[in-house]
Amino acid sequence: MITKGAALKLANGVELPQVGLGVYKLGDKTVASIHAALAAGYRSIDTATRYQNEDLVGEAVRTCGLPRGDVFVTTKVWNDAQREHRQRQAFEDSLRVLDIEYIDMYMVHWAIEGCYTETWKILEQLYEEKLVRAIGVCNFEIRHLEELAKYANIMPMVNQIEIHPKNTRKELIRYCQERGIVCEAWAPLGSGTVLEEPVLTELAEKYGKTPAQVILRWDLQNGLAVIPRSSNPVRIAQNIDLYDFELSEEDLARINALNENWINPLSGGDPNNVTF
Ligand SMILES: NC(=O)c1ccc[n+]([C@@H]2O[C@H](COP(=O)([O-])OP(=O)(O)OC[C@H]3O[C@@H](n4cnc5c(N)ncnc54)[C@H](OP(=O)(O)O)[C@@H]3O)[C@@H](O)[C@H]2O)c1
Repeated sequence: MITKGAALKLANGVELPQVGLGVYKLGDKTVASIHAALAAGYRSIDTATRYQNEDLVGEAVRTCGLPRGDVFVTTKVWNDAQREHRQRQAFEDSLRVLDIEYIDMYMVHWAIEGCYTETWKILEQLYEEKLVRAIGVCNFEIRHLEELAKYANIMPMVNQIEIHPKNTRKELIRYCQERGIVCEAWAPLGSGTVLEEPVLTELAEKYGKTPAQVILRWDLQNGLAVIPRSSNPVRIAQNIDLYDFELSEEDLARINALNENWINPLSGGDPNNVTF
């Protein structure tokens, strides 16, 4: 049974709350959105240097009234820092700008060819120096993980990837889960583009929930962590109100069948061809 506040245990025993708030492009709504999320029961915040709001994430965490240890904060090393071999400096900058004592999880944002194994070795050092509680990657395909395995002392604890009903990533998820790598679904709502899909609206009506809640519950039942973004307090609360219904096996399969391997250009890009 999945209960409110459920967390996924990472390979090193650290617990990642299963539902987190994504804060991409939240700008001046960042602090209020995080406070609304924490009040609604979220305990995980997903930012990145690229989102240009680490300062506001830090402010929100410092002023939320919860002990620092109650909130799991993730940030990521951006592509330019990898290409310019400034990964360590990028981490130190994030830590200083966030100003929240420590970062819970630090991630490689994209697998930049020719750079990502070097970046990973630096993340391993940060972890070994106890500067972060967990390390992970984003947008790593099986081939990237296989390459990393040749050099890694520690494999990523999390792979954060684009997952929504039009891009279900079943093979990659299975690969990761078989190796103890937790998958975390980014853009779980397809950045808002998949919510009007008729199967989802039909299931929303059947379960008395919203299409977004149906998708997020599908993620939870698939053993994923999930980081929906919203700046609307009502939707923020809805996106963690996922514990009073359970999708049947048949309905999970209907959602799985919506897969088109569709990469949403609004929120990312092709992990095999990172040109940004
Ligand atoms: N690692 C990576 O490379 C990567 C890439 C992309 C994203 N991410 C992470 O994943 C997070 C989520 O992805 P995302 O921000 O692209 O998209 P998303 O969470 O799939 O969708 C967000 C959009 O859906 C709307 N929305 C949210 N909840 C809703 C609800 N219950 N009903 C109707 N509409 C709703 C939001 O609008 P309102 O604000 O108006 O509610 C917003 O426009 C990001 O914030 C970021 O943290 C990571």
